[in-house]
Amino acid sequence: MASCFRDDALQGRVVWITGGGSGIGAGIASRLAAHGAEVVLTGRKAERLEAVAEAIRAAGGAARTAPADVRDPASLEAVAERIGAECGRLDGLVAGAAGNFLCPAVSLSPNGFGTVIDIDLKGTFNTCKAAFPLLSQSGGAVVTISATLQYTGTPLQVHAASAKAGVDAMTRGLAVEWGPAGIRVNGIAPGPIDETPGMEKLAPGEVRDRVVRAIPLQRLGTVTDVADGVLFLLSPAASWVSGAVLVVDGGQWLATAGLGAALTG
Ligand code: HXC
Repeated sequence: MASCFRDDALQGRVVWITGGGSGIGAGIASRLAAHGAEVVLTGRKAERLEAVAEAIRAAGGAARTAPADVRDPASLEAVAERIGAECGRLDGLVAGAAGNFLCPAVSLSPNGFGTVIDIDLKGTFNTCKAAFPLLSQSGGAVVTISATLQYTGTPLQVHAASAKAGVDAMTRGLAVEWGPAGIRVNGIAPGPIDETPGMEKLAPGEVRDRVVRAIPLQRLGTVTDVADGVLFLLSPAASWVSGAVLVVDGGQWLATAGLGAALTG
């Protein structure tokens, strides 16, 4: 897809992306690679990562795969060590790994709640911490990926909303703690993004049409919409932006909050 950013906006930069094997993470990886970044893809499934990396290479980009589970801090530290050894630097981290499903709170087991917290919230912390030594050497930047469902009272999403609220809080806290180390920390809060595992799980069939109608900009987001936000936050154009959570949702959560939805029918 055409881009308004320079092709070489991230030339010479190494960016580590968790959740890079599918959905938003894979889209971010492709977009950053198309703008010159060497991307390192992490996720649990090696074959999925390799398929994304292969497509990036076929398009002329540079991509490596480093399978790991964000619930395992030691495996992330090993990936960071590999990046240091093989790439020599790390300029950006996109902490995108997430897991989710629809479930009412009364039916959700403690382990179900804990699993989403472990992947989304603790996984983001584990990844940021593993990346810190390399990012502090390069004056790099972190972009976390949260959501908008935590900004309202989203039913069937108490587990994910709790985790994503924590991710937003972590983004702000790390921005303050790590700023003096030269690291910027920002987040993207995507709304409903088309053709992603999240949308397939959370808004199948006719729900999808209702979701579209409730979005002020009258369309679902694309992975490129999210990826371009990441590109901006990693680029020098955002060199004085830290602690921001950029909502990329076509105006969706504001329109569905409070009296808005009732007034517009
Ligand atoms: C209720 C469920 C459940 C469901 C799993 N569990 N699925 N409970 N309803 N549909 C419970 C299980 O019963 C178990 O608890 C616990 O969760 C762990 O389940 P496992 O299958 O063992 O976990 P695991 O194999 O680690 O898989 C994690 C996962 C899975 C989150 C459940 O779906 C996953 O890996 N997803 C990754 C891909 C993904 O979901 N991407 C979409 C992200 S979208 P018990 O008590 O039985 O042991 C996203 C965006 C949010 O995050 C915002 C959207 C707008």
